[in-house]
Amino acid sequence: MIRHDASKNIWVLEGDHISYVLGLSELGTINHIYCGEKLPYLSDYASADRVAAFPYTLGSELSEEEFMGWGKVKFTEPSLKATFHDHVRDVDLAFVDFEISEHTLVLLLRDTHYPLEVKLYYKVIPDCDLIERYCEIVNDGETNITLEQALTGSFYVPREKDYRLTYLAGRWPAETQLDRVMMPDTKLVLESRRGTTSHFANPFFMLDQGGKADEHTGEVYYGALAFSGNWKIVFEKDKFNMVKISAGINDFDFCWNLKPDERFCTPKYIVGYVNQGFGQASRNLHDYQRKYVLPEVNRNKLRKVLYNSWDATWFDVNEEQQTKLAEIAAKIGVELFVVDDGWFGARHSDRAGLGDWFINEDKFPNGLQSLIRKVNDLGMEFGLWIEPEGVNPDSELYRAHPQWVYHFETREPTQIRNQLILNLARADVRQYIFDCIDSLLTKHQIAFIKWDMNRNFSEPGFPSAPPEEQKEIWVRHAWGLYEIVEKLKAKHPTVIFQSCSGGGGRVDMGILQYFDQAWPSDNTDAFDRLRIQEGFSYAYCAKIMEAWVSDEVNWVNNRKLSLAYRFHSAMTGNLGIGDNLLKWGDEDSREAAKWIQLYKEIRPIIQEGDQYRLLSVRESHLASVMYVSPSREEAVVFAFLHSNSFDNELPRIRLQGLDEQTLYRVDDREQALSGKALMTVGIKVELRGDFQSKIIRIRKMVK
Ligand code: DGJ
Repeated sequence: MIRHDASKNIWVLEGDHISYVLGLSELGTINHIYCGEKLPYLSDYASADRVAAFPYTLGSELSEEEFMGWGKVKFTEPSLKATFHDHVRDVDLAFVDFEISEHTLVLLLRDTHYPLEVKLYYKVIPDCDLIERYCEIVNDGETNITLEQALTGSFYVPREKDYRLTYLAGRWPAETQLDRVMMPDTKLVLESRRGTTSHFANPFFMLDQGGKADEHTGEVYYGALAFSGNWKIVFEKDKFNMVKISAGINDFDFCWNLKPDERFCTPKYIVGYVNQGFGQASRNLHDYQRKYVLPEVNRNKLRKVLYNSWDATWFDVNEEQQTKLAEIAAKIGVELFVVDDGWFGARHSDRAGLGDWFINEDKFPNGLQSLIRKVNDLGMEFGLWIEPEGVNPDSELYRAHPQWVYHFETREPTQIRNQLILNLARADVRQYIFDCIDSLLTKHQIAFIKWDMNRNFSEPGFPSAPPEEQKEIWVRHAWGLYEIVEKLKAKHPTVIFQSCSGGGGRVDMGILQYFDQAWPSDNTDAFDRLRIQEGFSYAYCAKIMEAWVSDEVNWVNNRKLSLAYRFHSAMTGNLGIGDNLLKWGDEDSREAAKWIQLYKEIRPIIQEGDQYRLLSVRESHLASVMYVSPSREEAVVFAFLHSNSFDNELPRIRLQGLDEQTLYRVDDREQALSGKALMTVGIKVELRGDFQSKIIRIRKMVK
């Protein structure tokens, strides 16, 4: 799994199909040597080359360091920039030692003069062909060290021209849209400075050379960062064709006071390589999330069909109306009934009440437990919305603790959505949040928490903290959030936590270590969602992607879509219903019950199977996505027709991921076809008109 070739001073980390090779250079640095298809012999891998020097460019500048300290002659993105007690701002790291255990390699680097140690951790995830890395920066001296930049490290792709970058950009309510750009010979940065992951960019990338890869073929290098605060991924390409991809905590307004004996641990940076196109890269990430990232207790449980009335009722929730909704929800087959914003404090709009986590007795005169009992009696579990990091100035909490929000004493804190942000760098704030949510979970039968966060950071002051720790809040906030949820999960292990941030503002591999699923967007228009969901699927699996069936005429763009289309779009993820059920007729309920029943049958394939993006909604008027069960005995294909013109015939959809020799039945058609035929010739989908859709089931023929 991990081998060391002492003669060449290289370490070879092997997954099932890839290897990742590091080498010790003559300068004492750890250099990247290779990430690609696994080669047969150890002797196939090169050692760290001596790098030629050019006028104005020293060899050390071109050496592909995995973790570069800023010192001596370095101009590209450093992983570590620090100032020592004597104001020296020069980090000079040299390799000292290493340790190998079954899946993990630890490389120890040390500054040549100062008591600064860096441990680089590399873990191979063989069955997902991924490398997971992070590092620890340790102060083992007696004086403070100021960290001004602490990334997780750098990754390199072979020196070639014309790399194409695939990334996810967005905004509210249009998150995770896939964009592609040819890499310029300069620097390009994906980042968030907003305090959380953000709607605008996502810590994920894919690179292919010359734009040669497609969904199913070609070499793709890819990676993601597991962090939910300010992050950055820096792509640097130069005229030597060096392509360096550094990732980690954003150094913007960052500063960390590392005290004696303290260690700073960076977030995980996950990288991989495939030669079967973007689809396989995504499937590896999906597998990795389902097998290793998501919180363990709920990892293997199927996600339930939920109902949430937010789109329908907004803040106007009360026991009577929620009970009526619950009765219909139960009848159509919903398994989890969620009460969204508006159930607490003086919360009638977004102007007041946030922070006061006690039940609004005008709306719920019998307490929440009375509604929960009814929901449970109807055979459903109960879920609740909270936004623990936010506070309205018009709230009891703020009146009691105005110091608990981020602010500068001389500035009026800016309100966004009429709210401020609680300072999770403070232990008393973390304790307050923990106690409130713990008490809610202890006193009520709550199976699901939707944890929202509805604004970006501003005026990030922490007046009572020492000056040298002021800029630590960006990291401490994310860590504080992780800590609270980890403690809550330890006490209430089976509760499912969903990450929401005004839609999809906080979806990343870091949050998924603590939260079981995510809300990708407030945009619930079933057609727009196809695009958002397709982008989402590049980095994240369908199991965590909650999707609602909402109003016939959607609030986002006034588009009117059939119930079937809305269901089909939402069924490609983790199905939920967000429509106002009180407006539904019997026929709607009957149809919904039918789709929910079908979803329950095919849900294991969607949530646990392999996802294949067959036809992209970005490129084709006929979009299609397919899920194949791990045994490859069953599959389900979704087809969405945007519109059809001139009575043109639709293209056949060529399936993927089936077993070539196995005979499959397509829906209930008599004639069985081999997996090979379905994948080479494809299937014809009978769809006509605008916004039409279909679900096609593929099942192994039983003799
Ligand atoms: C933003 C979320 O994305 C919505 O789903 C809803 O929960 C509202 N916040 C509630 O304020």
